[in-house]
Amino acid sequence: MLNGKIDLRSDTITQPDKGMREAMANAVVGDDVLGDDPVVQDLERQTADLLGKEAAVFVPSGTMANQLAIRVNTRPGNAILLDANSHIYFYEAGAPAALAGVQCKLLTGDRGMFTAAQLEAAIPPRDIHFAQPSLVCLENTHNRGGGTIWPMDQLKSVAEAARKHNLLLHLDGARLWNASVASGIREADYASIFDTVSVCFSKGLGAPVGSLLAGSFLAIEKARFYRKQQGGAMRQVGILAEAAKYALKHNRNRLSEDHKNCQILAKGLSKLPGIEVDKAGPETNMLFINTGNHDAADLVKRFEGLGVRLLQTGQNTLRVVTNLTVKREEINEVLSAFEHLT
Ligand SMILES: Cc1ncc(COP(=O)(O)O)c(C=O)c1O
Repeated sequence: MLNGKIDLRSDTITQPDKGMREAMANAVVGDDVLGDDPVVQDLERQTADLLGKEAAVFVPSGTMANQLAIRVNTRPGNAILLDANSHIYFYEAGAPAALAGVQCKLLTGDRGMFTAAQLEAAIPPRDIHFAQPSLVCLENTHNRGGGTIWPMDQLKSVAEAARKHNLLLHLDGARLWNASVASGIREADYASIFDTVSVCFSKGLGAPVGSLLAGSFLAIEKARFYRKQQGGAMRQVGILAEAAKYALKHNRNRLSEDHKNCQILAKGLSKLPGIEVDKAGPETNMLFINTGNHDAADLVKRFEGLGVRLLQTGQNTLRVVTNLTVKREEINEVLSAFEHLT
């Protein structure tokens, strides 16, 4: 519980705990633009190793990590192929067009995940009329897909199709930690399929700020240049990198608790008349709820009155994201609130 409310709007609403704040306060920092911050260097090395990549660069946000990847892996006028519900397309303020000058070619996946056949069908012929694709972007877990995890076989077949057409691959792994904890597949095994991978420390891991882009030495050297150009190079930023290191060490394995809480919530909600949740059940920490005849905006206000915060994602849809501020016993309180209001 946070500030007297059970906050299920997102896993980004967490506050740094005492241990994290102490680690931040004690960070020995330097000017990272001059290459002097030992904590940033340590975090970049540690995370690159964890992802099995040559190098990594610390950035302020997941959006910046994704957008640097697009600039690194494309040229202006190229096309990128991605799911219509991907964060990069849906929630990043038109950045692929504004910053990299690329066209988004959208695929209609199932809960965010498309097939090799869909990808191949979307690749245009080499002809002067068509923007030539150079990059495919995938998201794992998939946010708007409902926190879904790409099956490894499907990932591999999509990657094989992309390689056949000489396309590069980027993974938006803002919640790759959740995918790994839930599937038991190491982050490095997922990452090995991709040229570049972004990860966030500011989602389920509970750090206040910070993401990272990993890839080859050359890709990350280019990303550092674009990060500077876009104003994302920071000075004594070890204070934030220390929070990210703390989050990795203390909050990664506990993500399974969030997943369990989400399943318990989904199971309870599936018994209530008048609302609907995906029958397959949540794979990680996210759940979309169809509110049926209830207006979602109105419900959000009434839940707020009962001390429960939810996110409206459509006229009749709510999103729930379990996170480290929400305890198992509070899930019962949330279920009681649903019983009362729906
Ligand atoms: C899948 C995914 N990718 C990228 C981002 C962007 O992260 P940020 O908010 O740090 O820019 C988010 C944010 O929620 C996300 O859910």
